[in-house]
Amino acid sequence: MPITVAKHAGFCMGVQQAVDRTLAAAGEAKSASLSCFTLGELIHNPAVVSRLEEQGIKAVSTPEEARGALLILRSHGVSPDAEAQARASAARLIDCTCPFVRHLHRAVSEYSRDGAPVILIGDAKHPEVIGTSGWCHGQVFVLSSEEEIDALPQEAGQALAVAQTTFPPEAFGRLSRRLLQRFPGVQVKSTICSATAQRQQEAAELAASSDIMIVVGGRNSANTLKLYETCRRHCENTYLVESAADLPPHIKVNSQQRIGVTAGASTPDWSLKEVIDSMTDMERMDQALEPQNEQVQETPLAPEAQAQEAPAAAEAQVPETTQAPEAQAQTEEAHRPASSFMDEVAANMTRIRNGQTVTGKVVQVTDDEVCVNIGYKSDGLIKRSDLVDENVQVGDDIEVEIVKVNDGEGNVILSQRNIVNRKVWAEITRKFEAGEFVDAVGKEAVKGGLLASIEGVRAFVPASQLSQRYVEKIGQFVGQNMKLKIIELDDAKKRVVASRKEVVAAEAAQKKAEAWARLQQGEVVKGIVRRFAAFGAFVDLGGVDGLIHITDLSWNRNVQPQDVLKIGSEIDVKILSLDPERERIQLGYKQLQPRPWDNVEEKYPVGSVVTRKVVRIRPFGAFVEMEPGVDGLIHISQVALTRVNKVEDVLTPGQEVTVKILAVDPEAKRISLSIREAMEENLMEAPAEIPGEGDDFAVNFEDEINSYTDGSIGAETGVAAAFKKAAEAAAARGDEVSEAIQSAHTEEN
Ligand code: F3S
Repeated sequence: MPITVAKHAGFCMGVQQAVDRTLAAAGEAKSASLSCFTLGELIHNPAVVSRLEEQGIKAVSTPEEARGALLILRSHGVSPDAEAQARASAARLIDCTCPFVRHLHRAVSEYSRDGAPVILIGDAKHPEVIGTSGWCHGQVFVLSSEEEIDALPQEAGQALAVAQTTFPPEAFGRLSRRLLQRFPGVQVKSTICSATAQRQQEAAELAASSDIMIVVGGRNSANTLKLYETCRRHCENTYLVESAADLPPHIKVNSQQRIGVTAGASTPDWSLKEVIDSMTDMERMDQALEPQNEQVQETPLAPEAQAQEAPAAAEAQVPETTQAPEAQAQTEEAHRPASSFMDEVAANMTRIRNGQTVTGKVVQVTDDEVCVNIGYKSDGLIKRSDLVDENVQVGDDIEVEIVKVNDGEGNVILSQRNIVNRKVWAEITRKFEAGEFVDAVGKEAVKGGLLASIEGVRAFVPASQLSQRYVEKIGQFVGQNMKLKIIELDDAKKRVVASRKEVVAAEAAQKKAEAWARLQQGEVVKGIVRRFAAFGAFVDLGGVDGLIHITDLSWNRNVQPQDVLKIGSEIDVKILSLDPERERIQLGYKQLQPRPWDNVEEKYPVGSVVTRKVVRIRPFGAFVEMEPGVDGLIHISQVALTRVNKVEDVLTPGQEVTVKILAVDPEAKRISLSIREAMEENLMEAPAEIPGEGDDFAVNFEDEINSYTDGSIGAETGVAAAFKKAAEAAAARGDEVSEAIQSAHTEEN
């Protein structure tokens, strides 16, 4: 096609927003019976200004003129003083300052807070530059040429250099370089709006590849004039037109000419369309005529045929409306290009709708929002809260969702978060349908349950679904990562109800199955002691519990689980038996402990004397605990030096006794003990501790013998008599007492 329209032509985002808000405000003003004014012409386009006037919206040059009325501040913005005056005068103020201009205001205001100078590159008479100067707290140098840079005073060396948002980027680059050459300390910050930069670049490229370039826009618009200048540099046949009526009559719209069309940021769509429609008509007219001319030239007709064709050719030049409807349709069909010019225009402009996902390029990042070029006539805005990637940079390609094509103020509202949420929701729905678990984190304990977040989507977990057991403190799950199973999902209300209990149950079942597959009878495994019962202890083997019966806890008899084990401790157990059908696992603990009867002969050699406690009394004797699991028996005949009728007469349970080991039988698990022999031995050995004590010994020994024979213990025995006799003899001879006693003892036996 011969005509190409620049992708970014017509209203920019800032202007579109200002126009839309103004039209909406006019309606409000009307219903509130207020007059409506704009402070200066809303945009530099006479056609738009006159249309606004038709709606009763007039431009005033000072705020005082709008006293008591609704006043609109245009996209160029104003100084803080002018804004204050406007607020004081107007009944209502609507601020349509473009976000890019607001960003520029913030930049100069912050930098100059302490009085630092600002260099503002732009047109000193432009309202935006005048307004921006008012936001500077120190000296402002406005310039637009290299000569003005050369004339700057030395104080400018510490300045921040910024640009009018619509200043040509190429010129800003050139002036910045010159500035830095002269003042290396100057900070340069590009504040040119992306719409301007993009429009200029596109226009330059389009002009370079066109034979004719049409720039549509107001002649008093700085933006349009700069666009014209740029195009003119690349295409000498560049025309600036305000409307279709300005189209040069000599231009020919046909396949021989490549025509480029662009429009300034203050040019409305309908103005651009009017120019394009007009050119389309010219194109059709040319095409309607061309084929017949060619046919006449290429295929000379016979005279009769010529005579027949002549009226037809003449008909082609009369207005189409004079043709019969069928003939008209045939003519249009025959001469319509494969795709009409307006189709091409439509193809060049991205169509968008709410909810659509598009990929755009980040063109501006400010503290509050990110501006994205989505190929639409206006760039879109993402608020920080709707941004997922906080580190987004100018030039990044990002996927965004169109939240609103027009928010009522002319802005295209975008969201990155909506896309993520939509993807997450789709994934949650898939997992819900597949019965899969989702990862979540507990966020807040609320009445009746817990609010959890599944990748940013809120889910409610009822208290009864938190655990298999009753949960007393729901707050314990706040901040905790957990897996959940979605049990209810309402797509329309975006409501999710989930269960942790089902996850716990499913995981437990899986662990149990794995444990049953893993455990083998006879093997030794580790387990955690979980709870005690009267009949034993339960041990968690990792998914399944086993029981240590009380008889398998210890070699010792009569022990309780708590005597042997501690809740929560890890122990080794032996798997004694597995019963998958009844789901019972019998474990042994004592089986892994040393048997107390092992090496008992070495531990308790016959003839040795030990002191232990009496643990049980029986009619035939008393049992003494040698060590846990090993008891010895003192037969009734061995419990005293004298004969006793009942064991209880001389011994009680818990009493400590000194016994001599008479015999050890590990096979029969028997140890025979004797108090009597231990006593005798003691008696025999005692004097040896004081050898050669002579008479004193005899007297002492006699006292001792008497203590056994004085009737308080029992009748004098043959042994005692023998001891006494031996002692007397020894005393008379002066022998070693122990030997005498030993010989007496031997004699007695
Ligand atoms: Fe704003 Fe840029 Fe338009 S500064 S008004 S978006 S040309």
